[in-house]
Amino acid sequence: MIHATLHQLKVFEATARHGSFTRAAEELYLTQPTVSIQVKQLTKAVGLPLFEQIGKRLYLTQAGEKLLSTCQSIFTGLEQFEMSVADLKGMKQGQLKLAVITTAKYFVPRILGPFCKRYPGIDISLKVTNHQRIQESMLANEDDIYIISQSPTQPDLTIHPFLENPLIVLAPTSHPLAQKKNIPIGMLNNEAFIMREPGSGTRKAVEKIFEENDITVNVSLELGSNEAIKQAIAGGLGISVLSQHTIISEGTTGEFAILDVQGFPIERDWYVAHLAGKQLSIVAETFLEFLKEESPAMARKLLPGLGKAALNSDDEQPEDLDAGEDSKTREPLTV
Ligand code: PGA
Repeated sequence: MIHATLHQLKVFEATARHGSFTRAAEELYLTQPTVSIQVKQLTKAVGLPLFEQIGKRLYLTQAGEKLLSTCQSIFTGLEQFEMSVADLKGMKQGQLKLAVITTAKYFVPRILGPFCKRYPGIDISLKVTNHQRIQESMLANEDDIYIISQSPTQPDLTIHPFLENPLIVLAPTSHPLAQKKNIPIGMLNNEAFIMREPGSGTRKAVEKIFEENDITVNVSLELGSNEAIKQAIAGGLGISVLSQHTIISEGTTGEFAILDVQGFPIERDWYVAHLAGKQLSIVAETFLEFLKEESPAMARKLLPGLGKAALNSDDEQPEDLDAGEDSKTREPLTV
């Protein structure tokens, strides 16, 4: 049996994660010499080098890689144990690591409010990022629970839909199509379009509908944030397709109009997911159940118009650009 202390393993894990003694020392509030002494003692105990230094960066050796994954299992096991003890004491306690796609940042913090109130012993870390980066986090097993809009091919996930995430065409209120109804999708060919960055799930869905309908929009701007796109729309730089959740707070009473384009809203859902083989912690199980149970009621309260096709609230009767047998009656949006 190797004689290593838990403290040495923690120091080693932080050093491996950062690839640097200095950054590990900063994270652990230790001095840099203390960190390197701890790693040296651990290396002696193991009997093989754990790192090799190339330039300023440290790289793990094969033994280092194996020790890192052993450390991760030990720490996860200890965290699970702590949670079980808290559960036996009748408390829910521990850390919950959540990673959510950018559109979910408009909803998830709202559900975390009542969750944290009910379970004050649970600490949450919330990471908001795009579809591609979430997939990378899944492959590295970085988080407990993920909220996504489409299931990636890899890794294997256990997945449940829990709320609608419709994608709408958003324009400034002054846009000439804002008062029109049933706009043929081909009319988007003439529009300056603001696109999300590569790797975004929203972008993928938009590219799919445009490809199916032979639409080649003129991409005037590419932006990596829903909020930045909203500001660009308000600034008159173009139109875009965004999740209806992105206009939760303002609706269509101010700067934005939802264009009634055929084929929209694109109907999508949010899914709550975790790695298929992963044994969920008590805290993660508790959140999963809470989300499934509470989100429909919370969405009804916050988003009564969610998922309904949307026109802008205005008394004026909009002009139907494609009137005929197929033209649909749409209800006003009330986000
Ligand atoms: P995105 O995810 O941030 O990757 O666009 C949003 C979504 O897929 O709904």
